[in-house]
Amino acid sequence: MSSYLKCIDCGREYSIEKVRFRCECGGLLEVIHGFGNEVSRKIFDERRKIWNSFLNSGVWRFKELVHPLIKKEDIVSKQEGNTNIYFHEKLCRYVGIEEFMVKHEGENPTGSFKDRGMTVGVSEAKRLKNKVVACASTGNTSASLAAYAATAAMKCIVFIPKGKVAYGKLSQALAYGGRVLEINGNFDFAMKLVQETSKKLGLYLLNSVNPWRLEGQKTIVFELIQQLNWEPPDWIIVPAGNLGNTSAFGKALKEMKELGLIEKVPHLASIQAEKSSPFYETWKKKSSKLLVVEEPETVATAIRIGNPVNWKKALKAIKYTKGVVEKVTDQEIMDAKAVVDSCGIGCEPASAASIAGAKKLREKGVIEEGDKVVSILTGHLLKDPDSTMNYHRNKLPGIEPRFCNTPVSLPKEVNENKLREVIFS
Ligand code: F0G
Repeated sequence: MSSYLKCIDCGREYSIEKVRFRCECGGLLEVIHGFGNEVSRKIFDERRKIWNSFLNSGVWRFKELVHPLIKKEDIVSKQEGNTNIYFHEKLCRYVGIEEFMVKHEGENPTGSFKDRGMTVGVSEAKRLKNKVVACASTGNTSASLAAYAATAAMKCIVFIPKGKVAYGKLSQALAYGGRVLEINGNFDFAMKLVQETSKKLGLYLLNSVNPWRLEGQKTIVFELIQQLNWEPPDWIIVPAGNLGNTSAFGKALKEMKELGLIEKVPHLASIQAEKSSPFYETWKKKSSKLLVVEEPETVATAIRIGNPVNWKKALKAIKYTKGVVEKVTDQEIMDAKAVVDSCGIGCEPASAASIAGAKKLREKGVIEEGDKVVSILTGHLLKDPDSTMNYHRNKLPGIEPRFCNTPVSLPKEVNENKLREVIFS
């Protein structure tokens, strides 16, 4: 059972024993595994009962589907995954879908889904004896990479767009010991810079252009479907920025179907922020070239991306699953976030795009009556406390806080009637 890298454009194959992120033709690479007979629902279910092994990780439980050959001693894991699925009637009413659930990837060790890709990427960096790892990031990737690099005692370099990274994430990257380089430009520029620098200086690149990251992120779908007793929902909805998740989800579903782990393939819906929606425009207009957005904007800084590297893989995923791409406004994102938060679940703005997207697709009739739907929450509420506070204090430019919960200021001397009024009104 061997694994190799294959170009998605020209089909050229490469060994995994040498570091390589792109094909000679410039195309993206995909990891291909030679699956054996040992993959079954039963083996994955058995492993859920284990608690004191790396196989308890929600990523490494699916080792055969992720990185079959890697040795245990090369695995850098923080017991990631095993995230919860939530159901709340208020949320169902908001999106207009009876069977609506969210899987909370913000419950990973550093508070975002990135840990699933990072455990695999950093393990692979270790396997190939790399000492310095690097990424460009809108925040979560840098937080996750810094934590995993620290775990493996590697040096970590992160390129971030100055002033555009939420404080929760930036503080994590610094605290975990990442070397943070603030770039005077947006994420797309930082991404270009890190790819060039990694090549020149021999840094091990850990953005989702690295196909091993996607192998880890596939496990969001594996675990979700396992939690649903191997009965897939009708729709899986995911926020979309650099399109790593959309790509990984498509690959995961294709592999599950081919291995007989599922009978039916759910539709994928990939949701972008309106002013950062190159993938939506490309899909809508059936363009064979990516319709890049030069100056992307959105309150959801995690997905403020105009030139997503994985767009070709993501397009394949949407086609394979007969899925759709949708866009939502910042107003819709922040309102959806306020509702998720008020259900006691909570998420960061980018994650709420998958809730706003579910609502929009139901209103349009794309999601039909009776469909079972799961949205993926990608990051924790505490990643971006500023956006939450500014919403509830009505300080987000251009956004009307429809579900705001403004703090009440009380004078030093406060009488009982006043208290009764503010508590019971
Ligand atoms: N949600 C959150 C919370 C994110 O941090 C990101 C991406 C996405 C959604 C989009 O996922 O790229 O797979 O389409 N954050 C990256 C970063 C870009 O640098 O942290 P995608």
